[in-house]
Amino acid sequence: ADYELLVVGSANADLVVGVERRPAAGETVLGSDLAVHPGGKGGNQAVAAARLGARTALLARVGDDAHGTLLLDAQRAAGVDTAGVLVGGAPTGVALITVDPSGDNSIVVSPGANARLTPEDIRAAGPVLAAARVVSSQLEIPLETVAEVVRALRPGARFVLNPSPPAPLPAEVLAACDPLVVNEHEARVILGEDAGGAPEDWARGLLALGPRSVVITLGAEGALTADGSAGSPVRVPSPKVDAVDTTGAGDAFTAALGWRLGLGEDLPTAAAYAVRVGAAAVTRKGAQASYPTPSELPAAAPEVPSP
Ligand code: RIB
Ligand code: NA
Repeated sequence: ADYELLVVGSANADLVVGVERRPAAGETVLGSDLAVHPGGKGGNQAVAAARLGARTALLARVGDDAHGTLLLDAQRAAGVDTAGVLVGGAPTGVALITVDPSGDNSIVVSPGANARLTPEDIRAAGPVLAAARVVSSQLEIPLETVAEVVRALRPGARFVLNPSPPAPLPAEVLAACDPLVVNEHEARVILGEDAGGAPEDWARGLLALGPRSVVITLGAEGALTADGSAGSPVRVPSPKVDAVDTTGAGDAFTAALGWRLGLGEDLPTAAAYAVRVGAAAVTRKGAQASYPTPSELPAAAPEVPSP
């Protein structure tokens, strides 16, 4: 097989409750009926790419339980190759999610089996990694596992990382990222006290840490791309949509971006496609359940000149 996108990452059952507002410490609030959706930043990326038509595989670990079955079924239904999904060792990862009336979410993740995806598992998956032209990861699996993924890339393969939830990254991992994909929160955490100014400044600050390229997602404002070997950062506007649930929109964006880069598009062109995918995803509830097929993508936003 030749995978256009291999996702190495987490798979979670998303337990979602709508709330008028989030509870403060010590407070109880009543919410909507519980919804259980397939999720996890890795599982989300794989489904997003497959639904767009990418030849996609997932390397992950789920528990030997009902949530694990739900997640595997969702991957297979989307057309993802799940031969690399390991089963057992701990309960399937769970994400406790509240969504407020504006569509914004707060998430607590119990990693479960995701925390048991080890560097040894990556070494044992050599043939899967050798078949991938683009490999995408996030940080809901151990950082040492992500570092092993970087070492196992086939020559010429492209590595895409969304460092979420954000953590300090070793130089070896940063140097492999092409691009490092962050939202505003992740950019601020990684840059720390240096995170003043505009997204263009964050992009320069992040590039200085060593990745080959950087993409900053800006929600309704679209994204900003910065290539270490090219000129100034480029703004990529998003089509305007009504947000219902932003959960997993960034995962869909990152998957689409990585896939299109692997097809040979340049960074702004791939990002312009990816913002349409992310925009479609926020118009429907859930993460994977909200991901578009190509015919469901909104038209591109009109181009704006970079400031
Ligand atoms: O990015 C959204 C995802 O974060 C959810 O699907 C949840 O599982 C958490 O991992
Ligand atoms: Na959504």
